[in-house]
Amino acid sequence: MDTRNHCLIFISVSLCVLVGVHCNQLVGGWEDASIDDKNVKEAAGFAVKEINSRSNGLYHQKLVKIHQARRQVVSGLLFKLMVEVGSTTCNKNEVTFDDVEQCEIDENGLSQLCTVTVWVKSWIPYHELKDFECNEKLPKPSKQKTKLKIEKNTPQDINLERTMFENFIQMFQKKYNPKEKEYRFEVFQDNLKKINVLNEYEKGTAVYGVTKFSDLTVEEFKKHYLGFRPDLAHKDATPPMVKVSVVDPLPKSFDWRQKNAVTEVKNQGSCGSCWAFSTTGNIEGQWAIKKNKLVSLSEQELVDCDTVDEGCNGGLPSNAYKQIMKLGGLETEKDYPYKGVDEKCFFNRSMARVNISGSNSLPQNETELAAWLVKNGPISIGINANAMQFYFGGVSHPWKFLCNPDNLDHGVLIVGYGVSENKFFRKSTPYWIIKNSWGSSWGEQGYYRVYRGDGTCGLNKMATTAVVN
Ligand SMILES: *[C@@H]1O[C@H](CO)[C@@H](O)[C@H](O)[C@H]1NC(C)=O
Ligand SMILES: *[C@@H]1O[C@H](CO)[C@@H](O)[C@H](O)[C@H]1NC(C)=O
Ligand SMILES: *[C@@H]1O[C@H](CO)[C@@H](O)[C@H](O)[C@H]1NC(C)=O
Repeated sequence: MDTRNHCLIFISVSLCVLVGVHCNQLVGGWEDASIDDKNVKEAAGFAVKEINSRSNGLYHQKLVKIHQARRQVVSGLLFKLMVEVGSTTCNKNEVTFDDVEQCEIDENGLSQLCTVTVWVKSWIPYHELKDFECNEKLPKPSKQKTKLKIEKNTPQDINLERTMFENFIQMFQKKYNPKEKEYRFEVFQDNLKKINVLNEYEKGTAVYGVTKFSDLTVEEFKKHYLGFRPDLAHKDATPPMVKVSVVDPLPKSFDWRQKNAVTEVKNQGSCGSCWAFSTTGNIEGQWAIKKNKLVSLSEQELVDCDTVDEGCNGGLPSNAYKQIMKLGGLETEKDYPYKGVDEKCFFNRSMARVNISGSNSLPQNETELAAWLVKNGPISIGINANAMQFYFGGVSHPWKFLCNPDNLDHGVLIVGYGVSENKFFRKSTPYWIIKNSWGSSWGEQGYYRVYRGDGTCGLNKMATTAVVN
């Protein structure tokens, strides 16, 4: 860990020199903000007003103190604040929130610590509360357990991290025994550091934060939620490469979801079966476009019956296409539903509803990939998922040192592309729209947007498709 930290610091310093700007002025980097700053105060006031209006309590809540403030420049300003919110003695039916300043704090009332993210967009007159998590204010910590790694953290940081961890447990209804809880807290703390690094060095507009995967180590995350295995590829069995010629100018944006070629976002659960979802996603698209019928297809059939790939232990779409041909087609999601565990094969040939007749590899050039997508449909890809574990939203564009393009570990589906215009900075960011398989509560309603044009996270390296006639 130590050497890695040094390494990161070293690389970041050289990057700053390279790019020729001050590190803390990098667009998109998180920086500390003063709790006395006018914008911070305004953002905090706005957040508490929102929290108050969304709570069911009979009494108004009000801002007691701003404990911490961080800000990021992204199409305006994004603030992450830690605020203390107290109950007042003012009844909501008698006093409006505009007069809350005159209300006294109820000493016996609920006192909460909330972490909030507020987006202040300078060019429109309203703000946006992007997320918030509140937890009952913890009593002052007595003595920290010496076992915790607290060399670098001030006690206040630990207190904040504790609160965030408690929020996380509540939010995702995690259940740990006491011993496991301490261990998970350590993992959670390590992950908070990773989240900071991702936010700090983000080149696009993405925001990273505490997700349902925040108590998992990298190894656990890879084993249970990814499952793209280039090592399973047979060298002589790579699908033939298609040649794409880009003749017509491409539309500025394109989205197969609007053309009824993409099924709802699915959830692979705790099973390394991403490769099966990436495969069915592509075939669902091909079938929808060729046969004008959108049918949700069975991943479990692939998990159970594909004998080249390894079910919940990982696999590869290019293998799966061949296995589907050998099996004699795919059953529907309904007929062969997803279980998320390895079972014995229940495939029944007469129940197959969809057939493929071959498969192809697609070029690495992203202009050609876009041209192919517009003409033919969604694309199965492999990607490095390092920036995905903590992704909240925006266009993800990590530096290579945070997302090695040669380390593909997740199978997903490109369904479209676009350009994000930032009027504030007169900057436009091209992106791919990627369908993931971690449910619709992850990312942008289950989708990931990632930078388009420089092979970010290796997304262009193993693009494939099935052939439907
Ligand atoms: C396969 O499906 C057909 C048609 O639904 C059914 O008649 C047959 O019994 C099934 N075979 C097996 C082994 O389940
Ligand atoms: C799959 O292909 C075979 C042979 O090409 C054909 O007989 C069968 O009807 C097809 N099944 C479906 C569901 O399209
Ligand atoms: C990608 O393909 C486009 C269209 O074929 C071509 O104009 C462009 O030069 C290619 N880019 C690279 C880096 O090869």
